[in-house]
Amino acid sequence: MLTPTLTILSLFSSVALSKIYEDVADLPSLQYDFVVVGGGTAGLVLASRLSENTRVSVLVLEAGESHVGFLNSQVPLLSPGAQASGTPYSWNYTSTPQAGAAGQTFDYSRGHMLGGCTSINGMAYTRGAKADFDRYANLTGDQGWSWDKIYPYFIKNEQWAKPADKHDDSCQYNSSVHGKQGPVSVSVPGYAYPELEKRVIQTTKDFPDDFPFNLDYNAGSPLGVGTFQYTIGKGERSSSAVAYLTPSVTKRPNLSILLHAQVAKLVNLPAPRPSSSTPSTSSLKPPSPGVQFRFRGKTFVAKASKEIILSGGAIGSPQILMNSGIGDRAALQSLGINPILDLPSVGANLSEHTYFQMSWSVNTNHTVEALWQDPVAYNAALAQWNKSHTGPMVDALPGSNVAWLRLKDDSPLLAMYDDPSPGPSAPHFEIIIQPFGPGLPGHFISLTMAMISPVSRGSITLSSADPFADPLIDLGVLADDFDALALTEGIAQALKFVSGPAWTNFIIAPVTDLGAMSPLELTAHIRAHANPGYHAVGTAAMTARGSQYGVVDPDLRVKGFSMLRVIDASVLPLVPSAHTQAATYVVAERGADLIKQAWS
Ligand SMILES: Cc1cc2nc3c(=O)[nH]c(=O)nc-3n(C[C@H](O)[C@H](O)[C@H](O)COP(=O)(O)OP(=O)(O)OC[C@H]3O[C@@H](n4cnc5c(N)ncnc54)[C@H](O)[C@@H]3O)c2cc1C
Ligand SMILES: *[C@@H]1O[C@H](CO)[C@@H](O)[C@H](O)[C@H]1NC(C)=O
Ligand SMILES: *[C@@H]1O[C@H](CO)[C@@H](O)[C@H](O)[C@H]1NC(C)=O
Ligand SMILES: *[C@@H]1O[C@H](CO)[C@@H](O)[C@H](O)[C@H]1NC(C)=O
Ligand SMILES: *[C@@H]1O[C@H](CO)[C@@H](O)[C@H](O)[C@H]1NC(C)=O
Ligand SMILES: *[C@@H]1O[C@H](CO)[C@@H](O)[C@H](O)[C@H]1NC(C)=O
Ligand SMILES: *[C@@H]1O[C@H](CO)[C@@H](O)[C@H](O)[C@H]1NC(C)=O
Ligand SMILES: *[C@@H]1O[C@H](CO)[C@@H](O)[C@H](O)[C@H]1NC(C)=O
Repeated sequence: MLTPTLTILSLFSSVALSKIYEDVADLPSLQYDFVVVGGGTAGLVLASRLSENTRVSVLVLEAGESHVGFLNSQVPLLSPGAQASGTPYSWNYTSTPQAGAAGQTFDYSRGHMLGGCTSINGMAYTRGAKADFDRYANLTGDQGWSWDKIYPYFIKNEQWAKPADKHDDSCQYNSSVHGKQGPVSVSVPGYAYPELEKRVIQTTKDFPDDFPFNLDYNAGSPLGVGTFQYTIGKGERSSSAVAYLTPSVTKRPNLSILLHAQVAKLVNLPAPRPSSSTPSTSSLKPPSPGVQFRFRGKTFVAKASKEIILSGGAIGSPQILMNSGIGDRAALQSLGINPILDLPSVGANLSEHTYFQMSWSVNTNHTVEALWQDPVAYNAALAQWNKSHTGPMVDALPGSNVAWLRLKDDSPLLAMYDDPSPGPSAPHFEIIIQPFGPGLPGHFISLTMAMISPVSRGSITLSSADPFADPLIDLGVLADDFDALALTEGIAQALKFVSGPAWTNFIIAPVTDLGAMSPLELTAHIRAHANPGYHAVGTAAMTARGSQYGVVDPDLRVKGFSMLRVIDASVLPLVPSAHTQAATYVVAERGADLIKQAWS
């Protein structure tokens, strides 16, 4: 994204974080009850929830930096600067060339810091459809993953917050489906673009059949058009680090967090047992299993007497499993890695969203470009944020409103293929309505459209036996024709959205005249301009016990190992029809409860 980024030291860098260690020499011990690998979105939920029990000790090993003092992570509008490669806060990943996207390669942002991707993401708060979770329950044979059973975890995770400008938000969400006391703040945008927003709402009245108003897409039935919700509170990002690592948590004597510690692999794992036998939670005999990690070039092992939990994310967790010999036997052997368990699903079936941006020049000066193209306005907005956490910097880039839509019932695609969506009340498409364009001079709005029930699959595979080498990241962007053809059809709906009377005298001209393209030209254009959604999941998929594929059981234990779990986005067997942080949070909240139950 063509947005200016500033590197500024924050005013808050002096906050003391007593239990967050910068040096392995300061760690009180290398032996804990629970070792959590990765202090990201899910990892910090586990750190916080497991250490609520003062009788157990918890270590978190995080490869990256502290989030404290990183202004691009704090200020919502500066998030593109937090997502950029080439900083200590990034894993600097690049995808493999994506054949379905005209051979493009993509920088694949991943947060290399406390909070993981929630410290850099777009902050969109979207739970998905009821049917997404009911399908997870079906796939795992565990009703515990159904919407009704997971719903309390959404509430537990969330704290509805006033928007930064304190406007009355009662017509923008349904308060009865939101948490009031959880750690993560969620709010509607706190800086208005009224000329855009009023046209969006007018369009729901002009075309109520195509674009019905939906007060709250997070109530389980997302279809329709409404106000976007964000993990933002008091004008500031509410990451898992901000939300779960509060001072009262970091001072717990039982919780230790080590930064700059990159885990290579698991060591001393007991022999895998057949997946049908009952997992044992009896105390492990020495030598305790552990994780081998690198700190400033030296190798250490941290041991776990109860469990090891991989929370390295959809790239890191499968990589660590494969480094440890858990994966596709033949592929591991060909790299010279000794396989200990043949589990070909590790790294397979990655599912991801594809986004495509459509922009129009507009007859207003009130767009985000007003800041990007005017350093005086930009600096004034930053100063306002700094002073009062108000003004145009309080919101994320994604946009003011969002539409969740389906392919039309008479779509020829649905006659030719099985419907990949989880059900008729779940969307195929998301359209994010944005008060900015592609970085050209002038003023723009955009409709950024995603295929969010994709058929395409990618993979994470090892590039070498070096545990610290970047893995091969194949996102499978538009790898299956269905996804490209669905987007081609869906764009007609986006064009209809802005064709109504509400938009006359506002829209000047499209940046690219998509309406003039033939379907074949449009599909080719989409492939050449598509982008990934940074929503990869599925690389350590949970499936039913005894399933022919999958990596973890419904209790998130790696099949065959009683003391090893994966708890992060990688266990979601299919990408939800939503951005993935809310789903990751509920996986982590339920995962923490499953661990507590196992050891109670
Ligand atoms: C640019 C971007 C924009 C996004 N926008 C949105 C959005 O608007 N809304 C939304 O809902 N979702 C969004 N997402 C997706 C969402 O943030 C992620 O799906 C989710 O946060 C993933 O959580 P996780 O716990 O699986 O992994 P992460 O949060 O990535 O956590 C993994 C942690 O493990 C650490 N780690 C990895 N490997 C190792 C190792 N070997 N040793 C030690 N530590 C390790 C990492 O440094 C990281 O801290 C976005 C993601 C990105 C990258
Ligand atoms: C990403 O690149 C920057 C700049 O070269 C570097 O400082 C940082 O350490 C890199 N990140 C990783 C995980 O290697
Ligand atoms: C789950 O399975 C049940 C019974 O097999 C079925 O009726 C239901 O439609 C399925 N739901 C989803 C979302 O797949
Ligand atoms: C808000 O959500 C509750 C609970 O799902 C529902 O009963 C109620 O009808 C919703 N209110 C509106 C105005 O949609
Ligand atoms: C955990 O806390 C207990 C008391 O609260 C203390 O005795 C023990 O040393 C702590 N363990 C670790 C590893 O911090
Ligand atoms: C990928 O997922 C499909 C189900 O969607 C399953 O049939 C297949 O076995 C999986 N492949 C691997 C390698 O896990
Ligand atoms: C935009 O700003 C320019 C320069 O200040 C001004 O001339 C023009 O009238 C403004 N346009 C609108 C639509 O407000
Ligand atoms: C924020 O304000 C303080 C003074 O209150 C100032 O020292 C600091 O430089 C400002 N930071 C930014 C980013 O404007």
